[in-house]
Amino acid sequence: MNSIKDLFPIFKNIPDLIFLDNASTTQKPTLVLDKLTEVYTQYNSNVHRGLYPIAVRADEEYDRAREKIAKFINADKDEIVFTSGTTDATNLIAQSLLNSQIISNNANILTTELEHHSNFLPWQRVSGNNLEFATFKENQLNFDENKKFDIVAYSIISNVTGKFTDIKDLRKNNLKDAIFIADAAQAIAHMPINVKEMDIDFLVFSGHKMFGPTGVGIMYAKRTFLEKMQPFKVGGGIVDKVSRESTSWTQSPEKFEAGTPPIAEAIALGSAVDFINEMGFNKISQIENELKAYALQELSGLEKIKIYHSENIHSGAVISFTLKGIHPHDIAQFLGDKNICVRAGHHCTQILHREVFEIPASVRISMSIYNSKEEIDSLVSTLNECIAFYRI
Ligand SMILES: Cc1ncc(COP(=O)(O)O)c(C=O)c1O
Repeated sequence: MNSIKDLFPIFKNIPDLIFLDNASTTQKPTLVLDKLTEVYTQYNSNVHRGLYPIAVRADEEYDRAREKIAKFINADKDEIVFTSGTTDATNLIAQSLLNSQIISNNANILTTELEHHSNFLPWQRVSGNNLEFATFKENQLNFDENKKFDIVAYSIISNVTGKFTDIKDLRKNNLKDAIFIADAAQAIAHMPINVKEMDIDFLVFSGHKMFGPTGVGIMYAKRTFLEKMQPFKVGGGIVDKVSRESTSWTQSPEKFEAGTPPIAEAIALGSAVDFINEMGFNKISQIENELKAYALQELSGLEKIKIYHSENIHSGAVISFTLKGIHPHDIAQFLGDKNICVRAGHHCTQILHREVFEIPASVRISMSIYNSKEEIDSLVSTLNECIAFYRI
């Protein structure tokens, strides 16, 4: 086992596990698992309510996690809202911008053909017929540059081709003053994000794709928006004054965290941030870029393979492909039988698959710091067996 693998107990429990489905979710290091156990065994209690010692400790830890996450993306602490994940955060933004009349239901919204469903269905829902898609052709996004849009919803890294989109290429001319919603689900564990430098209005990501627990994610928003936005979910923990007729809200970020939040998960997400910081993005991208280059080289030698990948230093180690004549689900099953975990399907991007690539599905491998060239070799030799099995 390589030394990074040693930090993830699942690989000790299942030594032959080849996990190449990291765009779906990442494995969890001991540091994160220990933190979850610490919360539940040492100071389990609700936050923002108790006056007894373990509740005070839970509050402090919850607050510290928010602080770590804020620092990680160069935001202020009160601009970080805990959600249940990327999807939850994007729905919150879309509904809240509409409910708060920051946008109308005639808003012009630009998204892209590359988006995961969770970054355009919430916009489809609020935009009526004014949702437009930047087309994806020859690895480029193209849209009508003469048109003004109120909102631009885009992903920093695509979950299918790994395409990296630099906000600098979008926020100019007619899009200069648009509200930018950046989906960082596939970027957050792979490259540094600085919301101030990038001038992002809203950033969303999930804890479970960055070595953290499931059930917790983040909505970052510029303070100016948080002040104007009404909460989307209402309930306990977010109110200032309640009467029978009306209610006033507390300050952000609590204003957006109605009900009991994912306390242990949020605290352990702080440890996932520690883990990434300790590893460092230089090392992470060095490992991932080397693996990606090797995988591209080895995969491209396979008979009748078509690769869908947007080469870039930030392309997130995501490679999708098809093998002519073999259904992607058959390939994933064949690999799965050998404990090689990949994804098959449309990866929640039906428009990209059906209309742009004109295929129903693809196979996706997505790499992380614990993968190795030997694992890529096993993948490729098993794919060769799969080809021999299905093409005889
Ligand atoms: C680019 C992108 N956006 C959004 C999501 C949704 O994330 P979650 O299911 O954690 O809400 C994913 C999940 O795969 C994704 O890859």
